[in-house]
Amino acid sequence: MASFKDICFTPSEFANLVKIERNQIPVLEEQGLLKTMKKRVGNVDRKMISLEGIREYCKQLQNIGRRGDQENTVTQTTQDITPTSEDQNLAPVATATEFVPQILKHKIQMFYNVKGGTGKSTLTAQYVMRAAMMGYNILALDLDGQGHLTVNLDILDAHERPTIYDVLINDLPIQEAIINVAPGLDLVPGNLGLCNIEIPLNQKTRREYRLTEAIKKISEHYDLIVADTNPAASILNCSMLVAADLVNVVCATNPLSFHGMSLVMATIEEMEKEFSRKLEVKIIPNFYDSREVISQEVLGELKIQFASHCSKTVINKTVDFNEATKRRTTIWDVNPRGVAAQDLSALTEELLFN
Ligand SMILES: Nc1ncnc2c1ncn2[C@@H]1O[C@H](COP(=O)(O)OP(=O)(O)OP(=O)(O)O)[C@@H](O)[C@H]1O
Ligand SMILES: [Mg+2]
Repeated sequence: MASFKDICFTPSEFANLVKIERNQIPVLEEQGLLKTMKKRVGNVDRKMISLEGIREYCKQLQNIGRRGDQENTVTQTTQDITPTSEDQNLAPVATATEFVPQILKHKIQMFYNVKGGTGKSTLTAQYVMRAAMMGYNILALDLDGQGHLTVNLDILDAHERPTIYDVLINDLPIQEAIINVAPGLDLVPGNLGLCNIEIPLNQKTRREYRLTEAIKKISEHYDLIVADTNPAASILNCSMLVAADLVNVVCATNPLSFHGMSLVMATIEEMEKEFSRKLEVKIIPNFYDSREVISQEVLGELKIQFASHCSKTVINKTVDFNEATKRRTTIWDVNPRGVAAQDLSALTEELLFN
């Protein structure tokens, strides 16, 4: 069992993750585009790729993609990118992969639902870890007193650490509340103290803007900032709605979760009016079980009633998520070829680029 920062991939897992053929790995190594390491498994040394190794590889693709974007001002797939003479040694990567790192569409995102237990913290944690694997620099914000995002990211001493409470109420500089979780992944942790934030926050001037102002101070250091929120129509959540560009509403495919969706959408609309904001909203169906008629019906209704908001990716119900939660690691550590890993890859690309 490895925590996220120590995760290593076998060559075939790596190839699967970045959508290349396994036999390209020695070529990439030779060209210095991929660093592998030896790890002792039983009594053999196996070639592995560390989290830093995969991040470095992905960053090189991003650089090629950015250069391509600048030259053509349209978003390209890596398949379309013709290497320049200085990129000649990158040709095998640029031509052989379908993996498409692009400029991110929404920098500040939140996972939200006033209903509890729909999978917000689980998806937030898995999403930020997946995006970190893709080479991006991410700040995760835990805005829930339950601290489940923090625990999912394997931080177990959050009760001793400052949280967003200290930033918003006691004017602690946000930099002092940030901890590093793994290469490319920082966190402002959450703990029980956050459950007491509503009354003091209510008494502050410009209360709903304080979080936006705090985020602005560190925003330039990150490619992506993602918050997990508490299951309530709280002032803290409202503050995050003011700060966010994209709201990811996680909806379980069951009747009560579906019933609550009208309230969630109404809350977002009210907030948009009050704060003169236009938010992008994505509804992510979670806990989908194709064997259950009720799950199929709720998914069908979500797609009809919220057609323009429903994500293309549907997250299936699978034990891998519970296992990853239990082990406080990524689903790629649990089952890299499983349905959960596939769903999360698709969701991550959709939330980052579409
Ligand atoms: N697609 C899934 N399949 C199976 N289990 C899942 C799935 N998504 C989440 N879970 C599990 O459901 C449980 C609740 O998830 P989670 O804590 O993320 O919900 P939440 O919306 O954050 O809850 P809260 O509203 O209390 O913050 C966790 O044990 C998690 O592992
Ligand atoms: Mg939660």
